[in-house]
Amino acid sequence: MSQFHLIDHPLITHKLTIMRNKKTGSKDFRELLNEISMLMGYELTRDLPLQDVTIETPITKMTAKMVSGRKLAIVPILRAGLGMVDGIQSLVPVAKVGHIGLYRDPETHQPVEYYCKLPSDIQDRLVILVDPMLATGGSAIDALTLLKNKGCKNIRFMCLVAAPEGVAKVLKAHPDVEIYGAALDDHLNDHAYIVPGLGDAGDRIFGTL
Ligand code: PRP
Ligand code: URA
Repeated sequence: MSQFHLIDHPLITHKLTIMRNKKTGSKDFRELLNEISMLMGYELTRDLPLQDVTIETPITKMTAKMVSGRKLAIVPILRAGLGMVDGIQSLVPVAKVGHIGLYRDPETHQPVEYYCKLPSDIQDRLVILVDPMLATGGSAIDALTLLKNKGCKNIRFMCLVAAPEGVAKVLKAHPDVEIYGAALDDHLNDHAYIVPGLGDAGDRIFGTL
C-alpha cells in the first residue's frame, strides 16, 4: 500500500516558508522551488539500485558502484510543474522529460487536458511526476491515469504542498503510487485552494498574477 512521504528536512522547510510568504517575488520563488526540487529529488532517488563496474583509478583497478540501468523520466504537469524539472535533472542529467498539460477549470475545479508529449519508451522508465500543488487531487489523478494508459508501471509523484483531501483521493485512485511532499497543509478553501498554501503556484512562478 502506498503512502504520503513527508520530506521535512529543515532546509526544505525553511525554503518553503520563504516561498509561502506573499512578499516573495517570482525570481526568488523560482530559485527556491528549484533548490527544494533538487533536495527532494535526492530523497526520492535514495533507493535507486546500484551495480558493480570495473574502473581504473590513477592508482589501481577497482570494482566500484554506479546507478544501474534503471532509466528515469521526469514529467511535469504544466505549467507549475515546469519549475521542478531543472532541480531533479541536475541530479540525473540523463533523465528524459515528458510534459502533460492540465489546467483546472475555474468554476468546476476539474482538470482539463490540453497537451501531452512523452518519451517514446516512457513505459520502461521510472517516472517522477511533478507538480508543486496537490489540492483536490484531480490533476494528479488524471496525469497518473494518462501515464498508466501509456503503459507506465513505476511512477512516483512529487509535490511541494499537499492538502489532506487531495492526498486521500490520489492514494485511493492510485494505491500503487508513492507520493512525496514537503508539507501537508490544513484544508482546501471554497475555491479549492490549499490553506495556508502559497497561492497559485503557476502565477507565482511565471509572474502572471
Ligand atoms: C494548479 C497546480 C496543479 C493543480 C492542483 O495548476 O499546479 O496542477 O492546480 O489542483 P488540483 O489538485 O485541485 O487538481 P492550475 O490548474 O492552476 O494550472 P497552471 O499550473 O497552468 O496555473
Ligand atoms: N493550485 C494552486 O496553484 N494552488 C492551490 O492552492 C491549489 C491549486
